[in-house]
Amino acid sequence: MVFTDSLAAYLAEVILSHLALTCVFLLATLAAVRWYIRDSYKVDGFSQKHVLITGCDSGFGNLLAKQLDRKGFQVMAACLTEKGAADLAAAASPRLKTFLLDVTDSASIRKAVESVSREVGERGLWGLVNNAGRSTPIGPTEWMKLEDFTKVLDVNLIGVIDVTLQFLPLLKKARGRVVNVASILGRLSVTGGGYCLSKWGVEAFSDSLRRNMQHFGINVSIIEPGFFKTNVTRVDLIDADLRRLWSRLPQDVKDSYGATYLDEYMKAQAFSMGLLCSPDISKVTRCMEHALTARFPRRRYAAGWDAKLFWIPLSYLPSFVADFMVNVILPSPKQNM
Ligand SMILES: NC(=O)c1ccc[n+]([C@@H]2O[C@H](COP(=O)([O-])OP(=O)(O)OC[C@H]3O[C@@H](n4cnc5c(N)ncnc54)[C@H](OP(=O)(O)O)[C@@H]3O)[C@@H](O)[C@H]2O)c1
Repeated sequence: MVFTDSLAAYLAEVILSHLALTCVFLLATLAAVRWYIRDSYKVDGFSQKHVLITGCDSGFGNLLAKQLDRKGFQVMAACLTEKGAADLAAAASPRLKTFLLDVTDSASIRKAVESVSREVGERGLWGLVNNAGRSTPIGPTEWMKLEDFTKVLDVNLIGVIDVTLQFLPLLKKARGRVVNVASILGRLSVTGGGYCLSKWGVEAFSDSLRRNMQHFGINVSIIEPGFFKTNVTRVDLIDADLRRLWSRLPQDVKDSYGATYLDEYMKAQAFSMGLLCSPDISKVTRCMEHALTARFPRRRYAAGWDAKLFWIPLSYLPSFVADFMVNVILPSPKQNM
């Protein structure tokens, strides 16, 4: 009797735990399906929507401008150079408008606001994509001077803030979208110079902007690409700048790193960039397009396998793990205390 009772209790326990597991699995599947369907809803009327993209001379901005142009958007592509603007205009439909914009120049932004304002009229601006950016000078912190930091911060962070603030009234009119291009280096500072700082700043600025502007119907999305083959990851340009930084170091500082350090550093950098940089930059522009066209845009988009599977998980681990990874990738100075 006692044996049958305990067997019955055991069986009931097994059935209940299986039932509970099945319920959890079903609920998780339902939540995933619901999320997937919700994520695929689109806004309509692309042809009535104006989108301004900064840094369209090359890379992500250039591809996004052409991609949105093909979808029928009214694209306003801001370029830094006349050649960049002319090349893009030649490769797009007559609907796409190019103009010159230096995001470090407030007067240049003001001029852009005036012409965009005339263009969009009462509709306002649907999308602002803060994409312009630069990576150099980038390298060991001790090799930098203050102006090396500000050169990068002025474009990647102060430029983003200035452009956003000046275009906010037009975005408010359209209850539009801001898409800010940060980086996985905005979560994990793996190198010195202004780049990682600027992208951490973009993350923070975007979070506060989103929380403040959601009351006015403005959505803010952050794009966090991993490593992609564009001008900002061109190893020849980064190496040339590293040589410049190295050449002006005092001899005692050079001695503390050792005569071979620069070469070893550049080799390690070329190796890891070669391994990590994806040539398929459409992975990034698809995220940007989703942020501009989805009915329910996401707050953050990780673009690239390295961002999703390596850098972002690494950013949640204790700092000593990231320190170890960086130490494995980069060489140690000769005078390793
Ligand atoms: N490639 C990557 O692995 C990666 C990863 C994470 C984040 N990002 C970010 O993605 C964004 C786009 O970069 P990208 O990879 O497409 O490289 P890119 O081809 O160099 O694009 C950057 C663009 O910004 C422009 N620009 C530079 N300074 C400017 C200024 N003061 N005013 C206006 N435009 C300026 C550049 O013009 P010029 O070409 O004429 O200099 C270029 O067209 C950047 O914010 C970058 O930090 C890139």
